[in-house]
Amino acid sequence: MKANFYASQIEKVIAMIKAGKGDEASDIGILTAQDYVNKERLLAEKAMFRKLPLIVAHSTEVSSAGDFIVRELDGRSFLIVRGDDGVARAFYNYCQHRGTKLVHESEGCRKRFSCPYHAWTYGVRGNLLGVPRSDLFPGLNKSEKGLKPVTLEESFGFLWLTQEPTKAASVESYLSGLSPELTELDLGSYQIYFDKTRTLKANWKLPIFAFLESYHISTLHRNSIADFFYENIAYSERFPPHIRSFVPRKNALELADADLSARNISEYITPTNIVFPNVCMIAHPSSYTIISMFPGQTPGTSIWRHMLLVPEIPKTDAERAHFDKTVAVLDGITYEKEDFWISEQAQEGINAGAIEELVLAKNEYMLKVFADTVAEWSQA
Ligand code: FES
Ligand SMILES: [Fe+2]
Repeated sequence: MKANFYASQIEKVIAMIKAGKGDEASDIGILTAQDYVNKERLLAEKAMFRKLPLIVAHSTEVSSAGDFIVRELDGRSFLIVRGDDGVARAFYNYCQHRGTKLVHESEGCRKRFSCPYHAWTYGVRGNLLGVPRSDLFPGLNKSEKGLKPVTLEESFGFLWLTQEPTKAASVESYLSGLSPELTELDLGSYQIYFDKTRTLKANWKLPIFAFLESYHISTLHRNSIADFFYENIAYSERFPPHIRSFVPRKNALELADADLSARNISEYITPTNIVFPNVCMIAHPSSYTIISMFPGQTPGTSIWRHMLLVPEIPKTDAERAHFDKTVAVLDGITYEKEDFWISEQAQEGINAGAIEELVLAKNEYMLKVFADTVAEWSQA
């Protein structure tokens, strides 16, 4: 993304580098370890997830009429399908005859969906098309027996599913101050180059912490990305409940007198959006990471998905090699073997009862901002 979009933030980051001091709170912060092992807390957080718009797919995953994907969220299955009118819709993935799970593949393209139990058949708009031996159902009105719909909005290149909307706010208004940036980024024009979903033995909030402080870069990432970044310098902005932060690379001062409209910010500074509650969007020089966290069945487990978006699918071996290297270094080492691995280590210490309070340095205060926002938003 062109650096001039972030002119005011770049000015602040450069001032911080020159001063040798990033964003800091006035004092240390404390987080309660119980919030990572407590079952009631997990239930409250899962209830929060059901009320918020969650990114469940990139738009290209259902690009044509009949393209569908199935998403399992906390024990509920959802069918997301693009209709013959071009509109993507979401439904509970359960047959309206007796509740049987309807579609058992994770993705595909179909004109209709037929239930494995008694072959009730539904169209791509969720409408009930056919009932075998319909004479056995006197009075059944097929138009009232379509699949149960769920709120789905297609915005900024993603499909956002809200299971239990509390008010009819658009994704754009929910994203508040992040909307102009996401409009400009146009991630809908990107393609998925890499996509992997894994389980983790750590609470869903812990890996998000990794993207909210730069205190760990020089140690945890000493063998991967540490050489590229300033230590302990980061600038964060709040668009409640969301957070955006900027971590400068070692060449960031080159932006000081540069024509920002001719520079790509992510070659000098890494902007990261924490789209509340569970998505980390990280800008790399030539690609974009979308990491989504989902709570697991216990407080100490979670599921994470990493999608790497690229402006276009590479055509040459050299282009493929470039993105393969990005995937190897970022996904395989920096995230999986460092940030996510260390989250499991922290969870183990919390599980063991070895620590009651997590202590935050003055420049780790965004963790507290995030944890407090989760606590506030997950109150019944
Ligand atoms: S449960 Fe689906 S057709 Fe009977
Ligand atoms: Fe990290």
